[in-house]
Amino acid sequence: MSPSAVILEAKSRLARARSVTVLTGAGISADSGIPTFRGADGLWRNFRAEDLATPEAFARDPRLVWEWYNWRRELIATKQPNAAHRALVELEGRHDRFLLITQNVDGLHRAAGSNKLLEIHGNIWKVRCTICKQVAENREVPIALPPHCRACHGLVRPHIVWFGEALEEESLDRSMGAVASCDVMLIIGTSGVVNPAASFAGIAKAAGAFVIEINLDDQPQSAMVDLMIGGRAAETVPLLL
Ligand code: OAD
Repeated sequence: MSPSAVILEAKSRLARARSVTVLTGAGISADSGIPTFRGADGLWRNFRAEDLATPEAFARDPRLVWEWYNWRRELIATKQPNAAHRALVELEGRHDRFLLITQNVDGLHRAAGSNKLLEIHGNIWKVRCTICKQVAENREVPIALPPHCRACHGLVRPHIVWFGEALEEESLDRSMGAVASCDVMLIIGTSGVVNPAASFAGIAKAAGAFVIEINLDDQPQSAMVDLMIGGRAAETVPLLL
């Protein structure tokens, strides 16, 4: 199929779908200037996840972990949603049964106006108390170190799902439900190597959904999708409307 025929097919599948589930990863925010994790300049090329994004790392050195998150908060605070984030807001408005599942913690989908949204890996603008577990929004840039809970004064941590941690049960149930019951699944800008999101394409396919992927390059899940649209998210997602 020619590139324009691929876009037309994707557009028509989406227009006819009764329910749509979308999964996004760091690639959609790359077009807003936020680094991905595994690309050539990806964060995990320059930093060790085990030193910065695990509960053990935080227990060992909370200041180091917070300094890294402060650096990311400073970077993300200067970035805006792009045309792909905005196109997904429009798509949400066209379908009663719609869910946008994002692995991104940058908050750009919410900033664009998405409402039917699940941030399965948490949000960099939220903190969680290590003692009383209360979650609170915190937009300080940089956050004063060490940050303490307003309720009980315990040490707070980023409200982010780190390596070795499980997703919140409700997030997992809602995302699995939406993936297993949609007519069309759209997978945008993810390498598909981190579970459970890595399993979503296979689950959607097995349940009979038509699966469309948008990415700069082929990924492990690309072999099983129905349509692969090669290109930048900000350029290609708006073409689907
Ligand atoms: P990765 O960095 O693993 O993958 C980013 C994907 O985006 C790659 O497949 C790229 O080819 C693609 N990409 C890059 N630029 C793009 C663009 N402009 N348009 C379209 N695609 C583009 O990021 P994720 O798959 O999101 O966890 O990583 C999953 C999780 O691993 C993250 O949520 C993070 C990380 O550890 C947490 O923060 C908890």
